[in-house]
Amino acid sequence: MTKKVALVTGAAVGIGRAIALRLARDGIAIGVMDLNQAACATVAQEIKDAGGEAIALAGDIARRDTIQSAAAELRAAFGPINILVNNAGITGFVPFLELTDAQWDRMLEVNLKGAFIVTQTILPDMIAQGWGRIVNISSSSAQSGAVNMAHYSSAKGGIIALTKTLAQEFGPAGITANNIPPRFVMNTAMSEDSFKHLGQASRDAMTQNGPIRRQGEPEDIAGAAAWLVSDEAGYVTGQTIGVNGGRYI
Ligand SMILES: NC(=O)c1ccc[n+]([C@@H]2O[C@H](COP(=O)([O-])OP(=O)(O)OC[C@H]3O[C@@H](n4cnc5c(N)ncnc54)[C@H](O)[C@@H]3O)[C@@H](O)[C@H]2O)c1
Repeated sequence: MTKKVALVTGAAVGIGRAIALRLARDGIAIGVMDLNQAACATVAQEIKDAGGEAIALAGDIARRDTIQSAAAELRAAFGPINILVNNAGITGFVPFLELTDAQWDRMLEVNLKGAFIVTQTILPDMIAQGWGRIVNISSSSAQSGAVNMAHYSSAKGGIIALTKTLAQEFGPAGITANNIPPRFVMNTAMSEDSFKHLGQASRDAMTQNGPIRRQGEPEDIAGAAAWLVSDEAGYVTGQTIGVNGGRYI
């Protein structure tokens, strides 16, 4: 392995953007991928303006053809991929008894099958290099459960199980797989949307309930991801690394 090359999904905004910027600071070339390539271009430019390497990629994690094209573009730009951050995701609030098959299927298609598709596309690069890092962004809702989020929390629980399985299956090939389950990370489109459903009281409680009395920021997740993809974390695999102000210990 001569060069570190990462694909970060859902990297146009929020947590994914923060991870892309953070990894780039460590000298990693970044494929900034999202549904909207134009939005990714802004992040890629931010990275380049700061002296890093990045390319904007269009890709829908639920559509294998788009992921294969994006991966090919990233390889052509920087060489084989050896770091994957499965961050892209959607959310939703529906009472369990009202959940439709279509809502259930769509949530699992993006939040669980999407990670399967992207990981299966990128893993052969890592195996060929004998080195790889996979970081999956799950959710504390998979640890705690979450009212009106059965489809979301189930998909994210699947991500934790997928992570452990990848760790076992590909550890012998020099590849680690870990997941970070955020709780509420503020200042992202997803958390703003969630608080429309949960209300201001819930928002205030988020900062007060727990040992660290502040809200989570995208950069908190990015810092943990940067360590997990580093050489120093080579003996850490299959783990769920809570970055949540100590709320789930
Ligand atoms: N923000 C939080 O409080 C929180 C808490 C728990 C878990 N998470 C998880 O963290 C991750 C990032 O969350 P965020 O708050 O930054 O969300 P966000 O909504 O701000 O950003 C998500 C990004 O993913 C992209 N995306 C969605 N579907 C996609 C698809 N099919 N293909 C490619 N890209 C797609 C979106 O376009 C968007 O840019 C998600 O997986 C989310 O479930 C977030």
